[in-house]
Amino acid sequence: MLKLSPAEKGLKGTIEVPGDKSISHRSVMFASVAEGRTTVENFLPGADCLSTIACFQKLGVTIERHGNRVVVEGKGWNGLEEPKTVLDTGNSGTTTRLMLGILAGRPFHSVIIGDDSIARRPMNRVTKPLRDMGAHIDGRENGNFTPLSVRGGALRPIDYRMPVASAQVKSAVLLAGLQAEGITRIHELQPTRDHTERMIRAFGGSVETDGKTVAVRGGQALNGTDIFVPGDISSAAFFMAAACIVPGSEIILPNVGLNPTRAGIIEVLEKMGASLEVIDRSDTKQGEQKGTVKVRFSALKGVEISGALIPRLIDEIPIIALLATQAEGTTVIKDAQELKVKETNRIDTVVEELKKLGAKIEATEDGMVIEGPNRLLCGAVDSRGDHRIGMMLSVASLICRDAVYLENAEAINVSYPGFFGDLKSVL
Ligand code: S3P
Repeated sequence: MLKLSPAEKGLKGTIEVPGDKSISHRSVMFASVAEGRTTVENFLPGADCLSTIACFQKLGVTIERHGNRVVVEGKGWNGLEEPKTVLDTGNSGTTTRLMLGILAGRPFHSVIIGDDSIARRPMNRVTKPLRDMGAHIDGRENGNFTPLSVRGGALRPIDYRMPVASAQVKSAVLLAGLQAEGITRIHELQPTRDHTERMIRAFGGSVETDGKTVAVRGGQALNGTDIFVPGDISSAAFFMAAACIVPGSEIILPNVGLNPTRAGIIEVLEKMGASLEVIDRSDTKQGEQKGTVKVRFSALKGVEISGALIPRLIDEIPIIALLATQAEGTTVIKDAQELKVKETNRIDTVVEELKKLGAKIEATEDGMVIEGPNRLLCGAVDSRGDHRIGMMLSVASLICRDAVYLENAEAINVSYPGFFGDLKSVL
């Protein structure tokens, strides 16, 4: 159990958050199926992305990592080999689902397992379209849960209307589509993060986006390249929130990824009245945007968050819920039922853990309602093995009346191994 004490004064300083998790996963995956060497700078060495590296090493790819620098020797799609042991995706939904898209088109057998959280997360959203394309996938409850076994092979393209707004599903079908004969078309419910599309172009391929439709042609050559991973806005969000709610704070976050399909948190903070500034905007070589975010303590007001905004901040909802406890008025989060199938059921975990600290928060069928502002108390809370719940509760502890004891704090290593060191540096 980790003891977390309230902040004694404002948080001050500069934090360079680690590389983006979504982009780090994709950089290793695309590098593994491309021809030639790829060098990735500012790779996130969190547990999830290390699972991706380990899986592709088991598929016969030579991958070396020195800290945040990863070098991958790609030998093309046909360079992947049948793994001799099971592929363990750990806690990572992105690794599990995107790898299924890759394995669907490979002419060999493989088995995917993950941890207890992965074993509860629905996979039929991916296995269904991949089976429609011709892949043989089986697993518990007719292929909905890990362990999953895959026998891939020749794929046919599909025209797929996605039943959920999910970048993981879109990406899995795109990765399979790159191996199919012909053009695969995907129609999204709402636009979701487009890192896969940008990555295809960075590796020399082409993909077309028209509104909510994405189309990719199979059989394109992908070539190794150099990738720079911008900082993870989902990690930066915890410090943006901390600066907003701890009186006297001013935090500078350089090199934060600002891809518009991910930057919903910035819009919400602005709507809540946060004192926030984005400067030094630039593009990385592979077409991702980044910039420096400056945030200061601010008086916040409640907001309504729903619809197309939800996929653009889906991972930030736990920390937005905490912000809402300190905002004047009511915050309503709707259309966010996808939270139920994240690392934990994040509607339940956010509501139950924040209630332990005295927050006025209630769960709804597709989100939550929060009344603020109210002074948070103290006590024992639990990440429940969910990294983002662990970080949200750690930020909450800064404004609590007395010490907070956090159970299962180590879950934070999934996406932000240096989180507590970085937090300490601004205390
Ligand atoms: C991710 C997509 C999102 C997000 C997850 C990472 C990705 O999941 O919650 O943390 O890298 O594509 P869904 O696509 O299932 O919404």
